[in-house]
Amino acid sequence: MKILVVGGAGYIGSHMVKMLLGAGHEVVTLDNLSNGHRDAVLGGKLVVGDLSDRGLLRQLFREHDFAGVMHFASFIEVGESVREPLKYYRNNLANTVNLLQAMVEHDVFAFIFSSTAAIFGEPQAIPIDETHPRNPINPYGRSKWMVEQVLADVDQAHGLKSVCLRYFNAAGADPEGQLGERHDPETHLIPLVLQAAAGRREAITVFGSDYDTPDGTCIRDYIHINDLCQAHLLALEHLLAGGDSRAYNLGNGQGFSVREVIDTARAVTRRDIPVIESERRPGDPARLVADSTRARQELGWRPAYSELATIIEHAWRWEQTFFGRQRLAATA
Ligand SMILES: NC(=O)c1ccc[n+]([C@@H]2O[C@H](COP(=O)([O-])OP(=O)(O)OC[C@H]3O[C@@H](n4cnc5c(N)ncnc54)[C@H](O)[C@@H]3O)[C@@H](O)[C@H]2O)c1
Repeated sequence: MKILVVGGAGYIGSHMVKMLLGAGHEVVTLDNLSNGHRDAVLGGKLVVGDLSDRGLLRQLFREHDFAGVMHFASFIEVGESVREPLKYYRNNLANTVNLLQAMVEHDVFAFIFSSTAAIFGEPQAIPIDETHPRNPINPYGRSKWMVEQVLADVDQAHGLKSVCLRYFNAAGADPEGQLGERHDPETHLIPLVLQAAAGRREAITVFGSDYDTPDGTCIRDYIHINDLCQAHLLALEHLLAGGDSRAYNLGNGQGFSVREVIDTARAVTRRDIPVIESERRPGDPARLVADSTRARQELGWRPAYSELATIIEHAWRWEQTFFGRQRLAATA
Protein backbone atom coordinates (compact mmCIF):
# COMPACT_ATOMS: atom_id res chain seq x y z
CA MET A 1 0.00 0.00 0.00
CA LYS A 2 1.17 3.55 -0.63
CA ILE A 3 1.01 5.73 2.48
CA LEU A 4 1.52 9.48 2.79
CA VAL A 5 3.37 10.39 6.00
CA VAL A 6 3.11 14.10 6.75
CA GLY A 7 5.81 15.20 9.20
CA GLY A 8 7.80 12.04 8.45
CA ALA A 9 11.16 13.79 8.92
CA GLY A 10 10.37 14.51 12.59
CA TYR A 11 11.00 12.39 15.68
CA ILE A 12 7.96 10.12 15.64
CA GLY A 13 7.28 10.34 11.90
CA SER A 14 10.79 9.19 10.95
CA HIS A 15 10.48 6.06 13.10
CA MET A 16 7.07 5.49 11.48
CA VAL A 17 8.48 5.75 7.96
CA LYS A 18 11.10 3.14 8.85
CA MET A 19 8.46 0.80 10.29
CA LEU A 20 6.10 1.24 7.32
CA LEU A 21 8.92 0.44 4.89
CA GLY A 22 9.82 -2.60 7.00
CA ALA A 23 6.19 -3.74 6.81
CA GLY A 24 6.35 -3.61 3.00
CA HIS A 25 4.47 -0.35 2.39
CA GLU A 26 5.47 2.30 -0.11
CA VAL A 27 5.97 5.66 1.60
CA VAL A 28 5.85 9.28 0.48
CA THR A 29 6.94 11.74 3.18
CA LEU A 30 5.82 15.36 3.10
CA ASP A 31 7.76 17.61 5.47
CA ASN A 32 8.78 21.26 5.38
CA LEU A 33 11.89 20.43 7.48
CA SER A 34 10.99 23.23 9.93
CA ASN A 35 11.68 20.79 12.75
CA GLY A 36 12.54 17.66 10.85
CA HIS A 37 15.74 16.35 9.30
CA ARG A 38 16.26 15.22 5.72
CA ASP A 39 18.63 12.41 6.80
CA ALA A 40 16.02 11.03 9.23
CA VAL A 41 13.90 9.85 6.30
CA LEU A 42 15.46 6.46 5.73
CA GLY A 43 13.62 5.50 2.56
CA GLY A 44 10.72 6.08 0.21
CA LYS A 45 10.23 9.48 -1.41
CA LEU A 46 10.70 12.75 0.48
CA VAL A 47 8.80 15.79 -0.75
CA VAL A 48 9.98 18.99 0.94
CA GLY A 49 6.95 21.22 1.17
CA ASP A 50 4.43 22.82 3.46
CA LEU A 51 0.90 21.79 4.37
CA SER A 52 -0.25 25.35 3.75
CA ASP A 53 0.52 24.81 0.03
CA ARG A 54 -2.83 23.52 -1.22
CA GLY A 55 -1.58 23.34 -4.81
CA LEU A 56 1.23 21.03 -3.74
CA LEU A 57 -1.23 18.85 -1.81
CA ARG A 58 -3.51 18.54 -4.84
CA GLN A 59 -0.53 17.65 -7.02
CA LEU A 60 0.65 14.99 -4.52
CA PHE A 61 -2.76 13.35 -4.34
CA ARG A 62 -3.11 13.45 -8.15
CA GLU A 63 0.32 11.85 -8.64
CA HIS A 64 0.01 9.12 -6.04
CA ASP A 65 -2.69 6.63 -5.28
CA PHE A 66 -2.55 6.79 -1.48
CA ALA A 67 -4.34 4.12 0.55
CA GLY A 68 -4.03 6.22 3.70
CA VAL A 69 -2.44 9.22 5.38
CA MET A 70 -0.56 9.50 8.68
CA HIS A 71 -0.36 13.04 10.00
CA PHE A 72 2.45 13.90 12.43
CA ALA A 73 3.10 17.48 11.30
CA SER A 74 2.36 20.13 13.89
CA PHE A 75 4.02 22.51 16.27
CA ILE A 76 4.50 20.82 19.61
CA GLU A 77 5.56 23.24 22.33
CA VAL A 78 2.90 23.98 24.93
CA GLY A 79 4.57 27.15 26.26
CA GLU A 80 5.05 28.60 22.79
CA SER A 81 1.40 27.86 21.99
CA VAL A 82 0.35 30.08 24.92
CA ARG A 83 2.55 32.93 23.66
CA GLU A 84 1.71 32.47 19.96
CA PRO A 85 -1.70 30.80 19.72
CA LEU A 86 -2.35 31.85 16.12
CA LYS A 87 0.82 30.12 14.96
CA TYR A 88 -0.57 26.91 16.50
CA TYR A 89 -4.11 27.26 15.18
CA ARG A 90 -2.75 28.02 11.71
CA ASN A 91 -0.41 25.04 11.53
CA ASN A 92 -2.10 22.45 13.71
CA LEU A 93 -5.70 23.21 12.77
CA ALA A 94 -5.96 25.17 9.48
CA ASN A 95 -3.19 23.20 7.74
CA THR A 96 -4.80 19.95 8.84
CA VAL A 97 -8.03 21.15 7.23
CA ASN A 98 -6.06 21.65 3.97
CA LEU A 99 -4.87 18.06 4.19
CA LEU A 100 -8.35 16.70 4.87
CA GLN A 101 -9.75 18.76 1.99
CA ALA A 102 -7.23 17.21 -0.41
CA MET A 103 -8.03 13.73 0.91
CA VAL A 104 -11.78 14.18 0.42
CA GLU A 105 -11.27 15.62 -3.08
CA HIS A 106 -9.17 12.61 -4.05
CA ASP A 107 -11.23 9.90 -2.33
CA VAL A 108 -8.63 8.93 0.27
CA PHE A 109 -10.56 7.91 3.36
CA ALA A 110 -8.10 6.52 5.93
CA PHE A 111 -6.42 9.00 8.28
CA ILE A 112 -4.24 8.44 11.34
CA PHE A 113 -3.88 11.51 13.51
CA SER A 114 -1.23 12.34 16.14
CA SER A 115 -3.29 13.62 19.02
CA THR A 116 -2.13 14.12 22.57
CA ALA A 117 -2.86 13.66 26.27
CA ALA A 118 -3.00 17.48 26.38
CA ILE A 119 -6.62 17.30 25.12
CA PHE A 120 -7.64 16.10 28.61
CA GLY A 121 -6.25 19.02 30.59
CA GLU A 122 -6.10 18.66 34.39
CA PRO A 123 -6.89 14.97 35.05
CA GLN A 124 -10.06 14.21 36.96
CA ALA A 125 -9.19 10.53 37.37
CA ILE A 126 -6.04 8.45 36.89
CA PRO A 127 -5.38 6.45 34.75
CA ILE A 128 -6.91 8.46 31.91
CA ASP A 129 -9.10 6.46 29.55
CA GLU A 130 -10.96 7.58 26.42
CA THR A 131 -14.09 8.55 28.35
CA HIS A 132 -12.21 11.17 30.39
CA PRO A 133 -13.61 14.68 29.70
CA ARG A 134 -11.73 16.68 27.08
CA ASN A 135 -10.80 19.94 28.67
CA PRO A 136 -7.50 21.18 27.20
CA ILE A 137 -5.89 24.06 29.08
CA ASN A 138 -3.58 25.51 26.40
CA PRO A 139 -3.78 26.33 22.67
CA TYR A 140 -1.62 23.31 21.75
CA GLY A 141 -4.08 20.90 23.39
CA ARG A 142 -7.06 22.84 22.07
CA SER A 143 -5.73 22.77 18.50
CA LYS A 144 -5.52 18.96 18.70
CA TRP A 145 -8.96 18.57 20.26
CA MET A 146 -10.41 20.86 17.57
CA VAL A 147 -8.94 18.59 14.88
CA GLU A 148 -10.51 15.57 16.57
CA GLN A 149 -13.88 17.35 16.39
CA VAL A 150 -13.31 18.31 12.74
CA LEU A 151 -12.58 14.64 12.01
CA ALA A 152 -15.90 13.55 13.52
CA ASP A 153 -17.73 16.02 11.25
CA VAL A 154 -15.74 14.99 8.17
CA ASP A 155 -16.55 11.33 8.86
CA GLN A 156 -20.24 12.19 9.19
CA ALA A 157 -20.32 14.26 5.99
CA HIS A 158 -17.81 12.48 3.73
CA GLY A 159 -17.15 9.07 5.27
CA LEU A 160 -13.48 9.86 5.92
CA LYS A 161 -12.45 7.38 8.63
CA SER A 162 -9.83 8.33 11.16
CA VAL A 163 -8.00 6.97 14.16
CA CYS A 164 -6.93 9.60 16.69
CA LEU A 165 -4.01 8.40 18.77
CA ARG A 166 -3.53 10.40 21.94
CA TYR A 167 0.07 9.92 22.91
CA PHE A 168 1.29 10.52 26.40
CA ASN A 169 5.09 11.03 26.36
CA ALA A 170 6.82 9.51 23.34
CA ALA A 171 10.32 8.45 24.37
CA GLY A 172 13.30 6.29 23.49
CA ALA A 173 14.82 5.68 20.09
CA ASP A 174 15.03 3.16 17.27
CA PRO A 175 16.29 -0.09 18.90
CA GLU A 176 18.60 -0.53 15.87
CA GLY A 177 20.22 2.83 16.61
CA GLN A 178 19.49 4.52 13.25
CA LEU A 179 17.07 7.16 14.53
CA GLY A 180 16.30 9.13 17.66
CA GLU A 181 15.00 12.36 19.12
CA ARG A 182 16.51 15.59 17.69
CA HIS A 183 14.22 18.45 18.68
CA ASP A 184 15.61 21.98 18.74
CA PRO A 185 14.87 23.36 21.23
CA GLU A 186 14.50 20.12 23.17
CA THR A 187 11.76 20.24 25.80
CA HIS A 188 11.30 16.54 26.62
CA LEU A 189 12.60 15.19 29.90
CA ILE A 190 14.51 12.06 28.84
CA PRO A 191 16.67 13.68 26.12
CA LEU A 192 17.32 16.65 28.43
CA VAL A 193 18.44 14.34 31.24
CA LEU A 194 20.71 12.50 28.80
CA GLN A 195 22.16 15.77 27.52
CA ALA A 196 23.12 16.50 31.13
CA ALA A 197 24.64 12.99 31.44
CA ALA A 198 26.64 13.57 28.24
CA GLY A 199 27.84 16.99 29.41
CA ARG A 200 25.91 18.80 26.65
CA ARG A 201 24.04 20.73 29.34
CA GLU A 202 25.17 21.61 32.81
CA ALA A 203 22.25 20.21 34.74
CA ILE A 204 18.65 19.10 34.56
CA THR A 205 16.06 21.37 36.16
CA VAL A 206 13.33 19.71 38.21
CA PHE A 207 10.23 21.88 38.24
CA GLY A 208 8.53 21.30 41.59
CA SER A 209 9.32 18.72 44.25
CA ASP A 210 6.27 19.33 46.45
CA TYR A 211 3.60 17.56 44.37
CA ASP A 212 1.31 15.02 45.98
CA THR A 213 3.34 12.06 44.68
CA PRO A 214 5.60 9.60 46.56
CA ASP A 215 8.81 11.56 45.88
CA GLY A 216 7.19 14.97 45.32
CA THR A 217 8.02 15.21 41.60
CA CYS A 218 5.58 14.93 38.67
CA ILE A 219 4.64 11.52 37.32
CA ARG A 220 4.39 10.93 33.57
CA ASP A 221 3.75 7.97 31.31
CA TYR A 222 6.59 7.28 28.83
CA ILE A 223 5.84 5.18 25.80
CA HIS A 224 8.61 3.73 23.64
CA ILE A 225 8.66 5.18 20.14
CA ASN A 226 8.52 1.73 18.50
CA ASP A 227 5.49 0.70 20.56
CA LEU A 228 3.85 3.95 19.50
CA CYS A 229 4.58 3.28 15.83
CA GLN A 230 3.32 -0.29 16.19
CA ALA A 231 -0.03 1.12 17.34
CA HIS A 232 -0.13 3.29 14.18
CA LEU A 233 0.45 0.25 12.01
CA LEU A 234 -2.41 -1.59 13.73
CA ALA A 235 -4.65 1.47 13.45
CA LEU A 236 -3.88 1.70 9.74
CA GLU A 237 -4.71 -1.99 9.26
CA HIS A 238 -7.98 -1.39 11.13
CA LEU A 239 -9.00 1.39 8.74
CA LEU A 240 -7.79 -0.36 5.60
CA ALA A 241 -9.89 -3.37 6.62
CA GLY A 242 -12.96 -1.10 6.61
CA GLY A 243 -12.95 -0.29 10.34
CA ASP A 244 -14.78 2.66 11.85
CA SER A 245 -13.33 5.89 13.24
CA ARG A 246 -11.85 5.45 16.73
CA ALA A 247 -9.73 7.23 19.32
CA TYR A 248 -7.16 5.53 21.54
CA ASN A 249 -5.06 6.69 24.48
CA LEU A 250 -1.51 5.41 24.15
CA GLY A 251 0.81 5.09 27.09
CA ASN A 252 2.41 2.17 28.82
CA GLY A 253 0.13 2.53 31.82
CA GLN A 254 2.98 2.98 34.26
CA GLY A 255 3.86 6.36 35.60
CA PHE A 256 7.43 7.31 36.42
CA SER A 257 8.37 10.36 38.45
CA VAL A 258 10.92 12.91 37.26
CA ARG A 259 13.24 11.68 40.01
CA GLU A 260 12.83 8.05 38.92
CA VAL A 261 13.74 9.05 35.36
CA ILE A 262 16.88 10.83 36.58
CA ASP A 263 17.89 7.93 38.87
CA THR A 264 17.32 5.37 36.11
CA ALA A 265 19.32 7.54 33.69
CA ARG A 266 22.17 7.67 36.23
CA ALA A 267 22.12 3.87 36.47
CA VAL A 268 21.96 3.35 32.68
CA THR A 269 24.61 5.92 31.77
CA ARG A 270 26.79 5.47 34.88
CA ARG A 271 27.25 9.25 34.77
CA ASP A 272 26.63 11.96 37.29
CA ILE A 273 23.57 14.03 36.40
CA PRO A 274 23.50 17.37 38.23
CA VAL A 275 20.03 18.55 39.26
CA ILE A 276 18.70 22.07 39.85
CA GLU A 277 15.53 22.25 41.97
CA SER A 278 13.10 24.90 40.76
CA GLU A 279 9.54 26.12 41.30
CA ARG A 280 6.54 24.31 39.80
CA ARG A 281 5.59 25.35 36.25
CA PRO A 282 2.03 26.60 35.84
CA GLY A 283 -0.29 24.04 34.24
CA ASP A 284 1.80 20.94 35.09
CA PRO A 285 -0.53 18.32 36.64
CA ALA A 286 0.98 16.06 39.33
CA ARG A 287 0.20 12.84 37.42
CA LEU A 288 -0.57 11.92 33.82
CA VAL A 289 -0.92 8.21 33.22
CA ALA A 290 -2.78 6.55 30.34
CA ASP A 291 -5.26 3.73 30.40
CA SER A 292 -4.61 1.99 27.06
CA THR A 293 -6.98 -0.93 27.61
CA ARG A 294 -9.07 0.02 24.57
CA ALA A 295 -6.06 -0.07 22.21
CA ARG A 296 -4.99 -3.43 23.63
CA GLN A 297 -8.47 -4.91 23.32
CA GLU A 298 -9.55 -3.49 19.97
CA LEU A 299 -6.26 -3.25 18.07
CA GLY A 300 -4.48 -6.11 19.81
CA TRP A 301 -1.69 -3.67 20.69
CA ARG A 302 1.06 -5.12 22.92
CA PRO A 303 3.83 -2.71 23.93
CA ALA A 304 7.18 -4.50 23.77
CA TYR A 305 9.44 -1.98 25.52
CA SER A 306 7.64 -0.87 28.67
CA GLU A 307 10.68 -0.89 30.99
CA LEU A 308 11.90 2.63 31.71
CA ALA A 309 15.52 1.39 31.69
CA THR A 310 15.09 0.02 28.14
CA ILE A 311 13.54 3.27 26.91
CA ILE A 312 16.44 5.23 28.41
CA GLU A 313 19.07 2.74 27.13
CA HIS A 314 17.86 3.20 23.54
CA ALA A 315 17.76 6.99 23.92
CA TRP A 316 21.26 6.94 25.45
CA ARG A 317 22.66 4.88 22.60
CA TRP A 318 21.27 7.51 20.21
CA GLU A 319 22.65 10.37 22.29
CA GLN A 320 26.10 8.79 22.28
CA THR A 321 26.26 7.74 18.64
CA PHE A 322 24.55 10.63 16.87
CA PHE A 323 25.55 13.53 19.11
CA GLY A 324 28.91 11.89 19.87
CA ARG A 325 29.66 11.85 16.12
CA GLN A 326 28.60 15.50 15.87
CA ARG A 327 30.95 16.43 18.73
CA LEU A 328 33.83 14.57 17.09
CA ALA A 329 33.14 16.30 13.76
CA ALA A 330 33.07 19.69 15.49
CA THR A 331 36.44 19.12 17.19
CA ALA A 332 38.14 17.56 14.12
N1 LIG B 1 6.73 13.81 21.06
C1 LIG B 1 5.75 13.58 21.92
O1 LIG B 1 5.97 13.14 23.05
C2 LIG B 1 4.32 13.81 21.51
C3 LIG B 1 3.31 13.65 22.48
C4 LIG B 1 1.99 13.85 22.08
C5 LIG B 1 1.68 14.17 20.78
N2 LIG B 1 2.68 14.34 19.85
C6 LIG B 1 2.33 14.71 18.47
O2 LIG B 1 3.02 13.85 17.58
C7 LIG B 1 3.37 14.54 16.39
C8 LIG B 1 4.84 14.35 16.08
O3 LIG B 1 5.60 14.81 17.18
P1 LIG B 1 7.19 14.84 17.11
O4 LIG B 1 7.71 14.83 18.49
O5 LIG B 1 7.67 13.82 16.14
O6 LIG B 1 7.41 16.32 16.49
P2 LIG B 1 8.50 16.82 15.44
O7 LIG B 1 8.53 18.30 15.53
O8 LIG B 1 9.77 16.07 15.62
O9 LIG B 1 7.86 16.38 14.04
C9 LIG B 1 6.90 17.15 13.36
C10 LIG B 1 7.35 17.21 11.91
O10 LIG B 1 6.36 17.93 11.16
C11 LIG B 1 7.01 18.85 10.29
N3 LIG B 1 6.05 19.94 10.03
C12 LIG B 1 5.52 20.81 10.94
N4 LIG B 1 4.67 21.65 10.33
C13 LIG B 1 4.65 21.31 9.02
C14 LIG B 1 3.97 21.82 7.89
N5 LIG B 1 3.14 22.87 7.98
N6 LIG B 1 4.18 21.23 6.68
C15 LIG B 1 5.03 20.19 6.56
N7 LIG B 1 5.70 19.66 7.60
C16 LIG B 1 5.53 20.21 8.83
C17 LIG B 1 8.27 19.27 11.01
O11 LIG B 1 9.30 19.73 10.14
C18 LIG B 1 8.66 17.97 11.71
O12 LIG B 1 9.52 17.19 10.89
C19 LIG B 1 2.97 16.01 16.60
O13 LIG B 1 1.74 16.23 15.95
C20 LIG B 1 2.79 16.11 18.12
O14 LIG B 1 1.81 17.06 18.46
C21 LIG B 1 3.99 14.17 20.20
